Amino acid sequence: MQPAIEVIHAAIQDIEADAVVVNLFRGVTTPGGATGALDQALDGAISALIAGGDLRGKAGETAVLYPRGAIHASRVIVVGLGDADGFTLDAARSASAAALSRARDLGAQRVATIAHGAGIGGFDPEAAAQATVEGALLGLYRYAKTGRGEDDGEEERSVHSIVVAEVDAARTDAIRTGAEAGAAIAAAVAMTRDLVNMPANEATPIHMAEVARGVAADHGLYVETGGRDWAAGHDMGAFLAVAQGAGEAPRFIVLEHNREQAGLPTIVLVGKGVTFDSGGISIKPSNNMGAMKTDMAGAGAVLGAMRAVAALDLPLHVVGLAPCTENMPDADAYRPSDVITASNGRTIEIVSTDAEGRMILADALVYAQRYQPDAVIDLATLTGASVVALGKGVAASLFANDDALCARIEAAADATAERVWRMPLWPAYRAKLRSQVADLKNGGGRMGGVGTSASFLEAFTDYRWAHLDIASMASTEEQDALGETGATGYGVRLLVALLRGWEA
Ligand code: BES
Ligand code: MN
Ligand code: ZN
Repeated sequence: MQPAIEVIHAAIQDIEADAVVVNLFRGVTTPGGATGALDQALDGAISALIAGGDLRGKAGETAVLYPRGAIHASRVIVVGLGDADGFTLDAARSASAAALSRARDLGAQRVATIAHGAGIGGFDPEAAAQATVEGALLGLYRYAKTGRGEDDGEEERSVHSIVVAEVDAARTDAIRTGAEAGAAIAAAVAMTRDLVNMPANEATPIHMAEVARGVAADHGLYVETGGRDWAAGHDMGAFLAVAQGAGEAPRFIVLEHNREQAGLPTIVLVGKGVTFDSGGISIKPSNNMGAMKTDMAGAGAVLGAMRAVAALDLPLHVVGLAPCTENMPDADAYRPSDVITASNGRTIEIVSTDAEGRMILADALVYAQRYQPDAVIDLATLTGASVVALGKGVAASLFANDDALCARIEAAADATAERVWRMPLWPAYRAKLRSQVADLKNGGGRMGGVGTSASFLEAFTDYRWAHLDIASMASTEEQDALGETGATGYGVRLLVALLRGWEA
């Protein structure tokens, strides 16, 4: 359960809680603002920590004090914000995550915090509150593992409620709006992380469809989840080719926000939903094949983004498409040399059944055309080449056929610290996909694999379009400020920031 969020108009030193959180920029010797007021209430205990060299304000550093009756809270956590120069909302988000994880580890259940960055940081209070709540909830995220949950003797520690305290009455409404948005977005990211973390026998296409139906029921979205017959009815030969060898039934998910409203800009989000990528007949090496349970991270991000879009009730017509299937070797599986016809009539020569993501996306991108979209953005764990090019955990590859759309995505990436890096869509890549027996091949060889994969997708687009190859971003082995290892939920915050900033 995600902790409850409450916003109250009060000074942080007056709040009853198991822990209260304030912050400190690096190098500050006399704290001001909320930290200064709390320091006074504690008779200079925070200043003493700084003077003693125990607290320097380094980003993510935490110090704990026990007020022993001087205030109503039983603990004070001071979190470092790093340098005031060049301070960002992302630093506020990370600091909040560090503070809340510390509070949880100490056993605190009710934690009060100020909105980091709203005071001395100089950020708009709404944005600061959103970053603070997002960071707190993302930092507290834990995947609930499968099993009976037998404990190791220690009882599970969890934060039950988070109070955001604002001393200035004129700012509490903005803080509340920001905190609510932060909570909605973090809940969506957690849902995506859960789906990506789940083993492939749990996060099946049917399960993805059930989650989509649940989101639609809870948040009032239109939903459709088609199986093999539905896909055949839409001539989705490329999607069905991949699903051909799958034991698990495939599902093509459609979610729609503001379906009935005319006159709104239409944005279509498309996510690759390969619930397990064995490679198919072009089978992958068994080493670490299990990592391919994350090959539906694009679809997961689209479901998460649709949930947030609905919760925030954005004034846009947003469609989410998620083709979901396994990619398995089987007597019925599609094979190298097969020629497949996609729903726009284009024929594809299969050179590798492991280039399955672009196949299922091809039919989804053709399907997107029916909405006459103002823009289509797809997310996919599409190529190992993207990881090689930009580095694990560093950035997603961004391709776009429109500079303005590209700039909007880059701005959203900057705002959320979900990094992207633009790559070229040169015709030279398309040339590598020329086939002797079909309109194009589904692979262009090992070199330039990220460019050829994007160029393949481009052949199925007929509108303003951007493609994010998120293969390097969907999961992490490094624990960072925003949480535990495993699924990151990459893309949800980026897409929501993009859509919130959209003007007609
Ligand atoms: N799902 C993989 C890409 C991938 C690799 C994602 C590593 C995350 C981490 C994709 O379906 C794939 O197998 N791509 C091939 C394409 C090739 C056969 C043209 C690849 O990258 O090798
Ligand atoms: Mn593959
Ligand atoms: Zn794949």
